[in-house]
Order: sequence, then C-alpha cells, then structure tokens
Amino acid sequence: MNSPVSRREFVALGAGVVAGAAMTRATSDHDTPTHPIRHFEVPLPIPRVLEPIRTDATTDYYEIVQREERVEILPGRHTVIWGYNGTFPGPTIKARRGRTVSIRHVNRLGTPTVVHLHGGVTPPESDGFPMDHVMPGEAREYVYPNAQRAATLWYHDHAMDHTGRNIYMGLAGLYLLEDDEERSLGLPEGPYDVPLLIQDRLFASDGSFHHKTVNHLGAKSGTMLVNGAPWPRLDVSTRACRFRIVNGCNATPLRLALSSGDPLIQIATDGGLLPVPVVCRQIPLAMAERVEIVIDFSRHSLGTNIVLQNLNTRGATGPISNEIMQFHVGRVEHDSRTMPTHLAEGQPVDRSAAIRTRQFVFSVRPSFGPRPGPSWRINGRRFDPETPIASPGYGDVEIWRFINKRFLGVLGIVHPVHVHLVTFKVLERNGRPPLAHETGWKDTVALDRDEEVSVIAKFEGYRGRYLLHCHNLEHEDHSMMARFDVV
Ligand code: C2O
Ligand code: CU
Ligand code: CU
Repeated sequence: MNSPVSRREFVALGAGVVAGAAMTRATSDHDTPTHPIRHFEVPLPIPRVLEPIRTDATTDYYEIVQREERVEILPGRHTVIWGYNGTFPGPTIKARRGRTVSIRHVNRLGTPTVVHLHGGVTPPESDGFPMDHVMPGEAREYVYPNAQRAATLWYHDHAMDHTGRNIYMGLAGLYLLEDDEERSLGLPEGPYDVPLLIQDRLFASDGSFHHKTVNHLGAKSGTMLVNGAPWPRLDVSTRACRFRIVNGCNATPLRLALSSGDPLIQIATDGGLLPVPVVCRQIPLAMAERVEIVIDFSRHSLGTNIVLQNLNTRGATGPISNEIMQFHVGRVEHDSRTMPTHLAEGQPVDRSAAIRTRQFVFSVRPSFGPRPGPSWRINGRRFDPETPIASPGYGDVEIWRFINKRFLGVLGIVHPVHVHLVTFKVLERNGRPPLAHETGWKDTVALDRDEEVSVIAKFEGYRGRYLLHCHNLEHEDHSMMARFDVV
C-alpha cells in the first residue's frame, strides 16, 4: 500500500535531493499563494518542561496562565495564538505516578475555557466538563492524582461548543506520566525520549490560523506542524530513540510510516507500555490517539534522511500532506543498551467479567435552516449535559459497542471515539481481533466508515459525571458527545 509514494521518496532521498523536492505553500483557503515553506528546514522544537511553583510531600503545584501571544511559526510571519503560558504548544508537565499534580489555570483570554487532561483518571470536578467554564479573568485549580500507569497524556481545552477553535488557536500541551517500572526498563531517555505533538493548521495570508470547519465536517488540513513547527527536521545520532507521538489534529487522521521502509517498533498505546514491542509497517493514528515507537538509527549511515510520512492523504475535507517531518542522521554515537523484549505485565481481558453490553451509534443527520450542514449524533441524540446516556455502577465491567453509521451512503467518515476516566481494551474490530497497533490500553479508538468496534472497560477510579465523544473536534462541538455517569 505504501510502495508508490515511499519508493519514489526513498530514491529522491538517496539522491540527496530533499528540500527541493518538497515545498508546499502555506495557503489560505482561497489558494492565495502566500508563503512557500521548505520542508525539513526548521529544527524540531521541544516544548519546555514546566517547573512547579511549589512542592510538598504529596503534591507538585503549578500555575498556568492562558493568554494570547504573537509567535513566529512560519518563517518571517507572525501568528496570534492562544497558549498555555502564551506558548504553542503549551509547556510539558512531567508527572510521577503516585504524586499529585495540582495546576491553577488563570484565564487571561477573552473567552471562557475549560481544561481536560486526556487519558487522566481524574475526579469529576477536575475532569473539565464542558460547562465548567473558567471565565475570562478567573482561575480554577485542577487536581490530578496520577494513580495510574505511566503513559503519554495530553491536556487541552474542552469548552462547550468551542473546543475545536480553542485547541486550534493553541490550547494543548503534553503531560508525561512516568513510573518506576517504566524507568527500570532502560528505554531511551533524556534527549533520546522525544515527544512529537502533530497538529496541522491552515494559515491565512496574514499568517493567522484559519480554522475552516467546512460546515462541521472537520477543520481543513494544511501545514503539518510538529511541536508547533512546520515540517521540521530533527538531527539524530546513530542509536535508538523513543518517540511519543500524539495526533493533536482537530480532524486529520494520520497513517504513520517511515520513508526508509524501516518498521515502526511500537512500545506503547494511549494507556502506556505494551507487554512486548510490536513491529508495524504502518500505524494508523486518529485524532487524540497516542503511540510510542522506537526507531533504531544505528542501521543508517551518517547523512541519511528519513521522512516520517503520513500515508493517509485524504480527510473529510480535502487533501492532507503526505509528509510530517524528517530525521537527519547527523552524529555517530554508540548505545550499548539493547531494546528490552519484555515491557510490562500482560494485560489479559476477561470477557466474561462484563456484566452488560451497551451500544453507541455514531451517526449524522442533515440539518436545515439558515446554515444547513450535518448534525452529529450519538444514539440519535445531540449532546445533553443534563442527561447521562449510560450510568455504569462503580467497579462494573462493561462492553461498549461503537458503530459508525453513515447517512444515505454519504458522510461515512472516521470518528475517533474517546471515553473519559477509563482505559479500555479493544475486543473486536468488525468481528475480528483488534489491529496490531491497538492491542494495548486505549482511551480513544478509531471508528472508520461502517465499522463496528467493541471495547471492554472497568468503570472505576471515581464516581461522577464524565464524557463519551468523537475526537473530531468539529463533530464534538457539533453535538457528537454524551455524558455518562459512574454511580
Ligand atoms: Cu481529548 Cu474529551 O477529550
Ligand atoms: Cu479525555
Ligand atoms: Cu466524528
């Protein structure tokens, strides 16, 4: 499936013509030729790790100010962003299992905001229910107990009806939860443990973000940004590196592959380490899904360029770039450590422990009126913050079946289904076992057109009000969301 594109690019890379072959214009929606961006020229930035303002025996305390800032994303242009501490992406929070993180968010923006820790087992009052707005000028404390496995999480806005816009404007950052078990494995660490937060953006000709939702189908794709930089380049050395990859796009499902044909050695899913590494040729990564991979650059000679590709070049709203970033093998370095073959305890699922099965149909209806367009639904309903769609008992194990139902043969597009509070295991995808990359703990699962996916989860951690929704943010904001309560 990947051969036509990757072979051509592989040849091009071998011949040393990289930059010239890959130039894309950062266009506005009107196709005004604006600012051609050379791919792989900007170095990959690594978001700064935030320092706590105070710590005590149990807790690290942080403060984040949400504010507007003018930053340079496209060389020579200015973009106004809404950022956590005025940065895009926001600062990285490093948390340790068993130590509480408390973050006081101050809203200095002109719009109400909500913060959600995606993947967090979080008490309901800190989970970021869309109506729990922090109004401009106000502040709120969010508390994360971190009594959960090490994993790559991310935090982002979750404001009612405006999550898509708020995240597009910059309100997202990484939250890396570590534990001793993971530490002891000897995986690549420090500068060899690299987060890659992928977010695509369309730019208007004045450099501003252009959040074009195409009637709530999904934000239109454009320039690929990794950690806030367009089609960046990372200089690596001849050794193994760990990458924590987050699809932070509003509406762009990706399919990752390497132009060198190297396999992707997957070590973790949304919910942390897999029992053993899984070798994948390609990894589909829908919005909000995370995957951690190890790439061993020791097989390559100095000067080699390897492109992290996106093989999924079409979305709901038009073409998507087939390139994400480049690794340039620029240094010789030896690493005597070998990749662990065992990563974590096995995580068998006992299907028979499930005491009930629920079904959730993700569908669309045309809506008429002044601005006709699709209206996204779960079980035929629009988001109702007052009424839970399901109320599992605390400690219950349930099977949830997600079904993607298209309307009259149209609009069959991917819905990444996300459940707050719990991590689940995929039991079945279209009656078959889960795909190779989704065998671990997950909190988000892609539901492509006409697909049916069953997952199993134990509803524990906290009682209270949580959410189930599509992580295409334009669908989420246009009603493809439901409340569930753990009772
Ligand atoms: Cu990443 Cu409810 O969200
Ligand atoms: Cu979430
Ligand atoms: Cu959707």
